[in-house]
Amino acid sequence: MVPAHRRGAARVHLDDAVRRHAARPRLRGPTAADAQGRRPDLPQGIGRVSEQGQVTHDDFDWEALRLEAVAARGHAYAPYSSYPVGAAALAEDGRVLTGCNVENAAYGVALCAECGLVSQLHITGGGRLTHFICVDKAGDVLMPCGRCRQLLFENGGPDLLLMTVSGVRRMDEVLPDAFGPDNLA
Ligand code: THU
Repeated sequence: MVPAHRRGAARVHLDDAVRRHAARPRLRGPTAADAQGRRPDLPQGIGRVSEQGQVTHDDFDWEALRLEAVAARGHAYAPYSSYPVGAAALAEDGRVLTGCNVENAAYGVALCAECGLVSQLHITGGGRLTHFICVDKAGDVLMPCGRCRQLLFENGGPDLLLMTVSGVRRMDEVLPDAFGPDNLA
């Protein structure tokens, strides 16, 4: 069957709430570090940054991170499943990373939203993820698939905090006894 996007319909449509959000200025994107590795426009909204440049986790604004994921979902290319996904994460230095799913006519090579997010982490300087959320078409929290839990474990470790369908959980709760870099050391 010819997918919808080949028949003239564009990608999965955004709902009005997302359009409104996308039109607003983003909280911040990846920032360039100075010669000392400091980033001048570290976030003040999602996580606070200590004197030492570490994001502190009290009063963490999960709703702001969810809205970043919703905005990212607006870029999803999901003509085959009609299941757009957006993901957003905070890195330890305050960067916000986002991703959306990108499907393919060869169904099996679809990229989950987490793939783009992890790639953006590395493109913008690497480091560790501290907080993660992904959302579905309705903007509701979605559990990352098994493969993506492995991706997140590699880049956030056991301490990574995820917003899940059952509240905030540590990475080592959603992927217990994980295989990881330590196994290869
Ligand atoms: N998907 C993601 O992007 N992340 C996940 O963690 C779960 C699934 C995408 C892949 C595919 O494009 C669509 O959701 C339906 O499976």
